[in-house]
Amino acid sequence: MKRVLSGIKPTGTLTLGNYLGAIKQFVKLQRKMTDCEFYLFVADMHAITTRQVPSELRKRSLDIAAMYLACGLDKERTILFIQSEINEHVELGYILQSNVYMGELERMTQFKDKAQKQETSITASLFTYPALMAADIILYDADYVPVGDDQKQHLELTRTIASRFNNYYGDFFTVPEPIIPEVGARIMDLQNPEKKMSKSEENDKGYITMFDDAETIRRKIRSAVTDSEGVIRFDPQNQQGLANLLTIYASATDRDIEDIVNQYKDSSYKDFKEDLGEVIVNLLVPIQEKYNEIIKSQELQDLLDRGRDIASDYAFKKMRKCKKKIGLGRK
Ligand code: AMP
Ligand code: TRP
Repeated sequence: MKRVLSGIKPTGTLTLGNYLGAIKQFVKLQRKMTDCEFYLFVADMHAITTRQVPSELRKRSLDIAAMYLACGLDKERTILFIQSEINEHVELGYILQSNVYMGELERMTQFKDKAQKQETSITASLFTYPALMAADIILYDADYVPVGDDQKQHLELTRTIASRFNNYYGDFFTVPEPIIPEVGARIMDLQNPEKKMSKSEENDKGYITMFDDAETIRRKIRSAVTDSEGVIRFDPQNQQGLANLLTIYASATDRDIEDIVNQYKDSSYKDFKEDLGEVIVNLLVPIQEKYNEIIKSQELQDLLDRGRDIASDYAFKKMRKCKKKIGLGRK
């Protein structure tokens, strides 16, 4: 059976970008690919590549697991787990560090961006992060990995590492394929549409979180930056802000951008934004209601236990064989 796998780091609050770029795609794939198995995890080991407050990290990890479920994942068909509860991720991560080159890691734009922002106190694990991410994926022989556009480069490196391992030691890991959505793979900041919408931005008007209340959502959309052209059309070059809002609308409603442009071509930005505000409110408020039920439930804990047990079983067997192939240990 083919396996689909993805993960989200529990840093900052989940944004509409995470939802449209990653979570929503995952749920959609699950509905479409009925003959696949779905592995989904909270990447808490990745979160500690930058400083985290322990109590907040733990809370956010659970929040993400609950939010995934609230967004409509099929509980029966999802192996949901927390990365740090399975030791083999780090074990394989180390082995893969020994199969990736400094030059390859130095080329990762996410590392370069973060290192530039942070300048000092850059941890060694932030640098080797792609090796751990590759381990997360190939440990389970995942076939498909749905992610947003910013993870494309990491996925390419994962494929390189897996192929390199297979070439040297003989076929062993499945080389995964990324699945990147056509619309919504890169939702931009509402205040600065040249930047990706991100939970780590200081200006909170730039992003919508999955937990924002209806009034906050409406206000943030209303104050989103547009342009002075005053005409609704899809022109990402010259009307970046508006193009981003159209993308959000299309992705949230599963409609074509063209169709939306047609509907609003004679409207003002103000009216369009009012409607978009309602679209997002209608999308997020029901998810939040479900989240509130799930986060308190024993069922969430039970699902995470079950996920841990199933994933752990696979990981344990895979690593035993992996070490044998490499010549580690006595047999
Ligand atoms: P992260 O929050 O960095 O762990 O990202 C989790 C997932 O959300 C990854 O698949 C990202 O590619 C995706 N993602 C994050 N931000 C955005 C965004 N602004 N637009 C689309 N996808 C995003
Ligand atoms: N690096 C991803 C991010 O920052 C999160 C992640 C970690 C991930 N391991 C993964 C995504 C494995 C897909 C598959 O968004």
